Amino acid sequence: MPKSLKLVQTAAPQGSIIATPSTRGKQSHNIWFEENKKILEESYLKYQEPWMQSGFSGPEEKWIECRKPIADYIDKPGTFLDIGCANGYLLECVLNWVGEKGIEITPYGLDFSEKLVELAKQRIPEFSDNLYVGNAFYWKPVIKFDFVRTELVYVPDELKTNFMKKLLQDFVNDNGKLLVADYRSSKDDEPKQWINEELEEFGYKISDYHSGYWERKELTRAAIVLKEENKG
Ligand SMILES: C[S@@+](CC[C@H](N)C(=O)[O-])C[C@H]1O[C@@H](n2cnc3c(N)ncnc32)[C@H](O)[C@@H]1O
Repeated sequence: MPKSLKLVQTAAPQGSIIATPSTRGKQSHNIWFEENKKILEESYLKYQEPWMQSGFSGPEEKWIECRKPIADYIDKPGTFLDIGCANGYLLECVLNWVGEKGIEITPYGLDFSEKLVELAKQRIPEFSDNLYVGNAFYWKPVIKFDFVRTELVYVPDELKTNFMKKLLQDFVNDNGKLLVADYRSSKDDEPKQWINEELEEFGYKISDYHSGYWERKELTRAAIVLKEENKG
């Protein structure tokens, strides 16, 4: 059963920072990645608040409600890779949130922005050797991880199924969990398929999903894909 966090808050809704590269689907994938990186980097680096340097708009309480569900799926000690780690704030928060449950994890991060990875290194200097610059679609990790978080919007639509195969094959340990997050803005009213539905359409078995709410609106859904259930 999906685990949901239902919360009522009074702060005004604010949108998330999302990239909308104008070249999507028209030019080469590399141009798409480059444009995406430029848009995200510029918008994140305008801010001082650590959650806003991670692409999140709104007050800190909203960040906590929308991102804490990520930590819910970490149920034992192990390695945790955040693909698209930005300035490392989610890694720092997840370390604390799972620490509150008595679980110790070793954090790793990957991001295609050199500037954001530099901020992540300053944020969690004790783990700076675990923070890498690279494009998730092309990067090959030297180890596999117990828990991996990512989003499918990091690649053009036509690469999504290849990206999923690569994540399960190269990034996730045999008994590991892949968490694919779907983040929405408070202003986002267009009906859209959620990530668990999209992945099911691709043929993946979803073992569970966790949701985060702000002002009674679901803004985060994180689908859990177990490698052992999706080997075929
Ligand atoms: C919304 S932020 C995620 C921040 C944090 N991990 C979280 O979940 O809140 C997305 C990050 O993914 C990075 N990113 C996007 N596409 C990527 C790709 N193809 N390879 C590596 N990083 C990518 C961006 O630079 C950005 O820092």
